[in-house]
Amino acid sequence: MAKVEKLDHFGRGIVFDNKITFINYALPNEEVEYHIIKQTKKYNVANIDKIVRPSEDRINYPCPYFLKCGGCSLQHLKYAKTLEFKKAKVEEILNKYANIKTNIEVISNSSPYHYRNKLSLKIKDNHIGFYEEKTHELVEIKECLLAKEAINKLILDLKYFHLTNANVTIRASYNDELMIIITTNDEPKIDLDYLTHNHKIVGIIINYQIYYGEDKFIEIINKQLFQVSYNSFFQVNPFINAKILKIVQDNIKKNSIVADLFCGVGSLGITASLYAQKVYGIEIVPNAIKNALINKKINHRENIDFCLGDANKVLMEIKDNIDTIILDPPRSGLKKEGKDTLLKIKPDVIIYISCDPMTLARDLKELTKVYEVKKFYIADMFSNTYHVESICILNILKEK
Ligand SMILES: C[S@@+](CC[C@H](N)C(=O)[O-])C[C@H]1O[C@@H](n2cnc3c(N)ncnc32)[C@H](O)[C@@H]1O
Repeated sequence: MAKVEKLDHFGRGIVFDNKITFINYALPNEEVEYHIIKQTKKYNVANIDKIVRPSEDRINYPCPYFLKCGGCSLQHLKYAKTLEFKKAKVEEILNKYANIKTNIEVISNSSPYHYRNKLSLKIKDNHIGFYEEKTHELVEIKECLLAKEAINKLILDLKYFHLTNANVTIRASYNDELMIIITTNDEPKIDLDYLTHNHKIVGIIINYQIYYGEDKFIEIINKQLFQVSYNSFFQVNPFINAKILKIVQDNIKKNSIVADLFCGVGSLGITASLYAQKVYGIEIVPNAIKNALINKKINHRENIDFCLGDANKVLMEIKDNIDTIILDPPRSGLKKEGKDTLLKIKPDVIIYISCDPMTLARDLKELTKVYEVKKFYIADMFSNTYHVESICILNILKEK
């Protein structure tokens, strides 16, 4: 038996003995009996056999697949405590890897359940579910408590697609219109009549081709319209997305010249263009840039240009005096080339949005040689998981 000290960055309980042991789903201060399931030279991983003394913060988890499916890591912890965990985790990472100590404002989710507008599932030998983490073992599910209700309603009717083996992604728009994206070697025998009568289906894409309807849908965030293609990125949590758009809006100075790097369908840049004199958006996915150009039109913005390409490289080609840069890269963060260009351009303000605090800290370590952190937020984009979204506002250091 052992007493759990704290949580690691993945939400596992830590026990320090001769060696560090990470105990799945154990909470700080709990006394647990456990057995080791993995041993390396440096650490062990263990599962709980018995919780001898539970934490006061432990709650009954509502999902029958929790512990099995691997998607959620914190359903057994009170919601307020999950936010404390995420804040402490980001504080620790910033301090350890970037030597940054700053106040963090926490933006909580409207609800820790039914917030996701996108879900990716596997169909294996006619069974629907998720692959257990790091395995190809299917955990069969009938619903996902993180997904919007419209997505769950469709999961119950996935049998009408008659798929034996497939990857299926379901995306739901603001008004619960559904886009279903399938890759499969099966011959499609889809009961379209039933499905279109019982669900608001905008499009079905099979193996990157339109099978039914359209290959794009419309999102609305903060009264702005965004066309989104089936393979264009859009944040999975509309409530938190709206909060991030508002933060961006509040940090754009009137008449500034802005670059929105990794712009997706242009939601941040289009928001910035309300105040900026000029905005340049850069994105690598062709469909997302096509969406962004449409989004410029439907939101009646003249002062924004979008370019297709690698943001790490194209930024250098913009011949304008950029004073504000919005950065929202994939998990891997900025490439060296991008960071070097940023430090050459030296905009007055950088708004860095990140879904991985580790790569954010790595990039901030270099950026804070010439920038100071003006404001730091974390937003609970991915409730019930250990993932966290960060928004960091950086101001250039004034030379003395
Ligand atoms: C985290 S998303 C942010 C998208 C957008 N800012 C939003 O809020 O919806 C990252 C985006 O970067 C794009 N991307 C990935 N690598 C890129 C690169 N090297 N250059 C430009 N865009 C890239 C992805 O396609 C994706 O749209």
